Amino acid sequence: MSNPASPPAVGVLDQGPELTFPPGFLWGAATAAYQIEGAATEGGRTPSIWDTFSRTPGRVLHGHTGDVACDHYHRLGEDVALMAELGLRSYRFSVSWPRVQPGGSGRANAEGLDFYRRLVDELLAHGIEPWLTLYHWDLPQPLEDAGGWPARDTAGRFADYTALVADALGDRVRYWTTLNEPWCSAFLGYGSGTHAPGRADGADAVRAGHHLMLGHGLAVRALRAARPEAEVGVTVNLYPVTPATDAPADRDAARRIDALANRFFLDPLLRGTYPADLMTDLRGVTDFGHVRDGDLATIASPLDLVGVNYYSRHVVAAPVQGADPVPYRRAPSCWPGSEDVRFVTRGVPVTDMDWEIDAPGLVETLRRVHEEYTDLPLYVTENGSAFVDRVVDGRVDDTDRLAYFDAHLRAAHAAIGAGVPLRGYFAWSLMDNFEWAWGYTKRFGMIYVDYESQARIPKSSARWYAEVIRRNGLAAH
Ligand code: FCB
Repeated sequence: MSNPASPPAVGVLDQGPELTFPPGFLWGAATAAYQIEGAATEGGRTPSIWDTFSRTPGRVLHGHTGDVACDHYHRLGEDVALMAELGLRSYRFSVSWPRVQPGGSGRANAEGLDFYRRLVDELLAHGIEPWLTLYHWDLPQPLEDAGGWPARDTAGRFADYTALVADALGDRVRYWTTLNEPWCSAFLGYGSGTHAPGRADGADAVRAGHHLMLGHGLAVRALRAARPEAEVGVTVNLYPVTPATDAPADRDAARRIDALANRFFLDPLLRGTYPADLMTDLRGVTDFGHVRDGDLATIASPLDLVGVNYYSRHVVAAPVQGADPVPYRRAPSCWPGSEDVRFVTRGVPVTDMDWEIDAPGLVETLRRVHEEYTDLPLYVTENGSAFVDRVVDGRVDDTDRLAYFDAHLRAAHAAIGAGVPLRGYFAWSLMDNFEWAWGYTKRFGMIYVDYESQARIPKSSARWYAEVIRRNGLAAH
């Protein structure tokens, strides 16, 4: 379907001048605990919802699990050495909740905390700034058994866990992210059920989204109490949402998806309110009775920075006229109340995830957060692409991924030029890893991982990124 309103996708190395980033720009790469660590039953770690989900037949492609993953738990030294070779200024990792607080309540597990102490010390020894994410989707299974994120109590448990991590690592970690992508936790985990824990109920998804944000607010307070000097933020995944045509019905479809994907989180976190139109759209799903007095003030606790994960754009169209909406509404969906909105493909270049490559969308997204929501420093905490890689003579020449990074870094630079206080950029991902429901079939890494031998091979994109970091900018081409 044609879409004259949106800018052309940038997918190749097109003409570009030399660009320099502001001094001190934080160049990094990101990973997440369940996606790389492995050692699922070692050191006192207990199962998370992703262990249970991935061991349930039919949930993850080919039955892949994170049991071994990149074996990072045992290869921490080697992996930090690779980061140092790339010249990374910062490394964004997540702490596995069930590794440091088995079962999700009670005392800390010293062995689990020691692993992260060693990681952080190793990073600092190499001059790499540790950036710690507290929750990248691995809820301890007993907390799910007690109701999971749709249950209010989980928010309090998250704050307790945060206090325990702040206590153990707060002396050496400056940058903290509470949640990674609460949209995915809530709407993929409890709405469509395509992510752990695999439940499919629209009202539960909305409750989960609220309690995740409540947990975030309580965690911010716990962090501030333990470490007043910490730089605290949250990471949201944002998408520009474009109507397929200018027709009012398509524009309304875009408004609905924008409300669920973006404003559901941005408005409470940065304004302390839920959008009125979102609440109207969700009338048939929930009455928001789970929101208590004071919750929104907690959720909007002041932050030091906002993390934005950007991958692609959504292009949407109104439901097909005359179609019976009932079957759609009953089908598991990550868009409760708007199940029948159609997601449209436009025939522009896509990645191996089938996500449209749309670098201008990053400028749009960053400008929107800055211009409509906040003056806080922004960081791109994830951006990257999956492509099929081939090892030839011991090398991986991933020109497609390199072009994706190049185009998006040019976009990041343009956003800075437009006045966005963008302070850093984290490539997703440092290395190939367990891509959730896709298992090991999708490779996002700058470093290739041979899962048989656990050999690491820096791809062309990694060498290119090292050069970007070295010159604090992009060469002309
Ligand atoms: C994001 C996740 C990250 C990774 C990338 C591809 O949604 O935060 O763990 O899976 O997508």
